[in-house]
Amino acid sequence: MRPATEPSINARRLLDRLESLGCVGRREDGSICRLALTDEDRQGRDLVAAWMRELGLEVRVDRVGNLFGLRKGLEDLPPVMTGSHIDTVATAGKFDGCLGVLAGLEVAQTLDEAGIRTRRPLVVAAFTDEEGVRFQPDMLGSLVYAGGMDVREALERPGIDGTTFGGELARIGYAGEMEPGALAPSAFVELHIEQGPILDHVGESLGVVADLQGISWQEVTLSGVSNHAGTTPMRLRHDAGYGAARLACFVRDLALSIGDSQVGTVGSLRLEPNLINVVPREAVLTVDLRNTDEGRLCEAEEQLAAFLHELGQQEGLGISTRRLARFEPVTFDAGIVAVIKRTAARLGHPIRTMTSGAGQDAQMLARVCPTAMIFVPSIGGISHNPMERTESSHVELGANVLLHTLLELAGN
Ligand code: GLV
Ligand code: MN
Ligand code: MN
Repeated sequence: MRPATEPSINARRLLDRLESLGCVGRREDGSICRLALTDEDRQGRDLVAAWMRELGLEVRVDRVGNLFGLRKGLEDLPPVMTGSHIDTVATAGKFDGCLGVLAGLEVAQTLDEAGIRTRRPLVVAAFTDEEGVRFQPDMLGSLVYAGGMDVREALERPGIDGTTFGGELARIGYAGEMEPGALAPSAFVELHIEQGPILDHVGESLGVVADLQGISWQEVTLSGVSNHAGTTPMRLRHDAGYGAARLACFVRDLALSIGDSQVGTVGSLRLEPNLINVVPREAVLTVDLRNTDEGRLCEAEEQLAAFLHELGQQEGLGISTRRLARFEPVTFDAGIVAVIKRTAARLGHPIRTMTSGAGQDAQMLARVCPTAMIFVPSIGGISHNPMERTESSHVELGANVLLHTLLELAGN
């Protein structure tokens, strides 16, 4: 048991903020759509920035729109940072990313109420475009922050809707002046929902994330010949739709044959001209491959390339590929993992050591400072879906572990 004097977060307040932010971009079917740098993203940012100001945090925005709330420390040392993202996929629930940002605000408010000023400053961050749905790659804001892409290149990234990252950033009023990375943290800790089935399945409440899968995203374009669906003999077709179907099946079989952590997904498919009685002339698909082992991820990419070559030859299809994202697996800092484990133990809770299957801002921050993550369960392992849920008691527990981890790292 914790001594009664230890601070503890206010779960009701955190859940209320999650619900208020979840109302921004919510559609009639209950899903949330707050794609990066849309009007809905701007509204979400405005709300988070207003909460930051209410809590007396100094609000700063960098040149790629990463949003920071700074809480002064007793000493002018490199800060301890927490946070995540508030952009969403187009069919989201209210927890992915938002939990990490809003738990950071809840920690700041809890410390205010407890009269605690940490030795190091604390920073709560909301990174731009973690999802990478509208502008690729994913984790774009934190990637630039960590020096993995320069600002100019990021601003020029094209959107899936004919926009550019820089144009949309300026349009919504979040093109700040601070250089990304100017706030150099001494440590980063991100609280996130698991987004997978493990904790829920084993009936455990907490995870500490020790590593994270490598991610390979490509767009594949298959070019065939449009023709009449009734008159064109099967042997004379160059059917991009058929090629797409074979590719989707190949990706699934590939993942199953490599096994272990290998996963493969064709999540987006567009056919042209997409008409019932016309053989498709073009198919544009995305392929998402992930593995915790870099060598096996490379092997999956090689097998995919060989399959595409063969498919082109067999079906008389033109094949082109475009790289959308490529990140190697990441191992988080053993020291921060140990602090999280110790904190959970002190609060009386077992904690499972895990791998993150999802991409995370923390994987970028790991390039610049000691980093690790805390996971709480996703009911039924469902995420990127409006049915995404986490028990309120798990939200509270995760935020309390975050609070005490940050307190240890920031010193008091
Ligand atoms: C982001 O959520 C990803 O892992 O695709
Ligand atoms: Mn996320
Ligand atoms: Mn996500």
